[in-house]
Amino acid sequence: METLISKERLKKKVKELALQISGDYKQKNPILVGILKGSFVFLADLVREMRIPHQIDFISVASYGSRKKASGVVRLLKDLSTNIEGKDVIIVEDIIDSGLTLNYIRNNLLTRNPKSLEVVTLLDKKKRRKVKIPLKYVGFSIPNNFVVGYGLDFDEQYRNLPYIAKLEE
Ligand code: IMP
Ligand code: MG
Repeated sequence: METLISKERLKKKVKELALQISGDYKQKNPILVGILKGSFVFLADLVREMRIPHQIDFISVASYGSRKKASGVVRLLKDLSTNIEGKDVIIVEDIIDSGLTLNYIRNNLLTRNPKSLEVVTLLDKKKRRKVKIPLKYVGFSIPNNFVVGYGLDFDEQYRNLPYIAKLEE
């Protein structure tokens, strides 16, 4: 498999994002909400570079439709265990493709009246976007290839790769 983003580049970028977030959220004790399962590796590395107090939580959703053609119809599999009302919330996503999944989660979380709601995504496939979503922090913009590793899977495999690779088709 061809490497798209090496372990070293990931490490450097994740640290940059964590320091940026740490600067922006001083005294705010933000809640970082990881979207399962893909974001678990990114979230784990991100929080270890954070320099401010914060909390973490997880949410899990399943999208109907095939992997390569998201339908935008999303089912909540696991909800947050924290009440986010009045809190500064940062959604942590592995990759944004059509944006339909994140759009659903964002709207769902907004109904709970957080004080603020922003998004950090490691990867962004901008060209594929179907709905506009404000992204405060983006790691890498990538071309329209299917990628795996660093939490991202194909058929539940390859999540453990320490780098991002293009899946050969
Ligand atoms: P969206 O709703 O189309 O933005 O899809 C987002 C979700 O699809 C992501 O959270 C990933 O779980 C998955 N996904 C999209 N593109 C890829 C990819 O290239 N590799 C692995 N998973 C992907
Ligand atoms: Mg995901």
